[in-house]
Amino acid sequence: MIYLPLQHLQPGMVLARSVYYHPTCLPLIVAGQQLSPAMIRKLTELNICGVYIESKFASDIEVKEFIDPKVKQQVTNDLRTLYSGYIHNVPLSSFTIDSMRNIAENLLNYIASKEEFLLNIIDIKDYDTYTYSHSIYVGTLSVLIGMQLNYSQNLLLQLAMAGLFHDIGKLDISLDIINKKGPLTPEEFNEIKTHPKKAVSRLEFSQKIPNIVLSAIESHHEKYNGTGYPYGLKGDNIPIYGRILALADVYDALTSSRSYRRAWLPNEAVEYMMGCGGTHFDHDILKAFLKIIAAYPVGTIVQLSNGSLAVVIQNSQEHILRPVIRLLTPDHLANTDVNLATDRTYFNVTITGTITDIEELPSTIFE
Ligand SMILES: [Fe+2]
Repeated sequence: MIYLPLQHLQPGMVLARSVYYHPTCLPLIVAGQQLSPAMIRKLTELNICGVYIESKFASDIEVKEFIDPKVKQQVTNDLRTLYSGYIHNVPLSSFTIDSMRNIAENLLNYIASKEEFLLNIIDIKDYDTYTYSHSIYVGTLSVLIGMQLNYSQNLLLQLAMAGLFHDIGKLDISLDIINKKGPLTPEEFNEIKTHPKKAVSRLEFSQKIPNIVLSAIESHHEKYNGTGYPYGLKGDNIPIYGRILALADVYDALTSSRSYRRAWLPNEAVEYMMGCGGTHFDHDILKAFLKIIAAYPVGTIVQLSNGSLAVVIQNSQEHILRPVIRLLTPDHLANTDVNLATDRTYFNVTITGTITDIEELPSTIFE
């Protein structure tokens, strides 16, 4: 299977992985179906950025969702129930806090049961459930970073809680501001900036929320160079969990589509974040983060500096910018696989672009 952004979809292409619409958790389009113009229109309406398509060049390549749709739906439902019972500006009940811990525990157990730690996918996210999926991904990414740093199970549970509920303070901010499509006024942005402190004022009365979780939530918008908010903390004065959450939060926001821009592809987000070590992010945590993200996930099409097109078929934690690729040759007589990290004849060949830079793909890929 090959990942294709929406603008490259053509009627007749065969869907390789079912597309779920999370409010119902039913597949919107089932794998194996040929795409019709109406289906492509529906995907566009739902702001889904891309899907996996069958291709003879990558028929042996399967990319599974990192978070099983059923697990994602369960956590989404749990979060929705919890948030719907949320009364403005009232400290959370002991029952709610127990539920938060249970949701975090379930997510952590699920992640711990997976063997693959490299996030080798572009998950298909629909815009309607952004709030929930963002919480789930920030929780997941934070836990994966914690695993890279060899954190104990108890520390990972605290990270999962902090990640899942990092933005809970936004529930106390007017929906008009949260859902505003255009740019925010300075006053509105100042209001948004209060959400880390608002979360703490809701949670701090509970003995059940460890201080480390509170301080993580409070500091997830601090930046390593001291230009973040709410306190402008600098370097190691930012609690370490807050530094982890900051990375997970920014990565997921960049790779999700918003009303004003398309989702960035993993390589674009990774490159941007690599440039933010020491300014926005802690270098050491950034290093751990770069071991769990595949810049060019399996199934993505890349352009090489020698003019060839290829599909990524394998990644390794050691060389996230130099995956194993399969050349998309016009005749496709045999698979030509190249390991960009070890093949000496390809040392001077670089990946210069991804599918979003390619205007038209050769139709032979999908014949
Ligand atoms: Fe936030």
